[in-house]
Amino acid sequence: MNEARAKEIVLTGITTTGTPHLGNYVGAIRPAIEASRDPDVQPFYFLADYHALIKCQEPERIHRSTLEIAATWLALGLDTDNAVFYRQSDVPEITELTWILSCVTSKGLMNRAHAYKAAVAENQEKGEKDPDKGVTMGLYCYPILMAADILLFRANKVPVGKDQIQHLEMARDIAARFNHIYGEHFVLPEAVVREETAVLQGLDGRKMSKSYDNTIPIFAPEKKLRKLIMKIKTNSLPPEAPKDPDTCTLFSIYRAFATPEEVEALRRRYAEGIAWGEMKQFLFEYLNGLFQEARARYEDLLQHPEVIEGELRKGAERARRVARPFMAEIRRAVGIYPLAER
Ligand code: TRP
Repeated sequence: MNEARAKEIVLTGITTTGTPHLGNYVGAIRPAIEASRDPDVQPFYFLADYHALIKCQEPERIHRSTLEIAATWLALGLDTDNAVFYRQSDVPEITELTWILSCVTSKGLMNRAHAYKAAVAENQEKGEKDPDKGVTMGLYCYPILMAADILLFRANKVPVGKDQIQHLEMARDIAARFNHIYGEHFVLPEAVVREETAVLQGLDGRKMSKSYDNTIPIFAPEKKLRKLIMKIKTNSLPPEAPKDPDTCTLFSIYRAFATPEEVEALRRRYAEGIAWGEMKQFLFEYLNGLFQEARARYEDLLQHPEVIEGELRKGAERARRVARPFMAEIRRAVGIYPLAER
C-alpha cells in the first residue's frame, strides 16, 4: 500500500498581514507544529499572501509579514521534512483552480458570505447609496480562493477559527457542485474548529486579537515583552489580599503555557495574596525564559532571509508535485486538454 495515501491530510493557511502574537501561538501555531511531528498526519501549511491582498494594500507590510510569519513557524520548530510549508503565490495551480471553481460557484452563494454581508450591512448603516461601496471582487470571491487552497490538496481536515466555519461549508458546497457536474474529483473537507480554551486573553482581558490592538508578539524583544506584561489589566486589590486566579488575565495567560503542577502552585500563591507587581514580574520571567531560545533562532532567521526563502521554495516544489498532476486531471475533467489526445 502507498503509505503517503493513507495519511490524513491536514491543511491550513495563515494570512500574511501581521506579526504573530501569543494568541496565534496558542490557538493555531502550537497545535499545527505539534501535528507536523505526527507521522500519521500529512500537513500542508501555507502563507496565504493572495488572501492578504484582500485586506491590505500596503506592499511593505505584506512582504514583512510573510517574512515574520515564516520565520516564526520555523523558529518554533515546524518540521518541514514532514509538513509541506509554502507560499500560496508560489503555487500557480491554486489560482488556476480558483477560476475553474468560480465557474461552478453560484453568485448567490457568495452573496451569503459573512465578510461580504458585513461590508454591505456597514454601508447600509452609514446610509451609503451604494451597498457595495468599498467591496472588491477579491473580498467578494474570497471563499472561492480559499476553496481552491483546500480542494487542490484533497485536504481531509482544516483547522480554523470559528469565523471560518462558513468558508469550509462553502468549500464543501463548491466541491460537491463540481463533483456533481464533472464526476468525483474533490474530497469534501471538514473544519476542525479550535476550541474556546485555546483562546488567549489580551492585555485588556478581551480575546487577544490584532483587531483589538491588545496583543503580545511572540518574539517581542525582552524590554518590549516586559513593558507589555506590565500593561496587562488587573483589579485594584492590595498586595496582601487573596486573589481570584480564575478572573485574572495574568493567570489565564500563564495557564496557556504552564504544566498542571505549575498552575496549581501559582493558584496557591494567588490564595496567599501575591502582589500584582510580583505576579507580572513572574509572568514576564516565565514567558521570557520559555521563548528565549526560539527568539534567538527567530532573530537569526530574520538576518538570513535566504534560508527562509529556501524552505519556502522547497515547500512549493513539494506542493506543486501534488498540484500539477491533479490540476491536469481537473482540466481534463472540464474538457481542457491537448487536442491530439482522446
Ligand atoms: N481565511 C483564513 C483566515 O483568515 C486563512 C486561509 C486562507 C485559510 N486559505 C485557507 C485557512 C485555507 C484554512 C484553509 O484565517
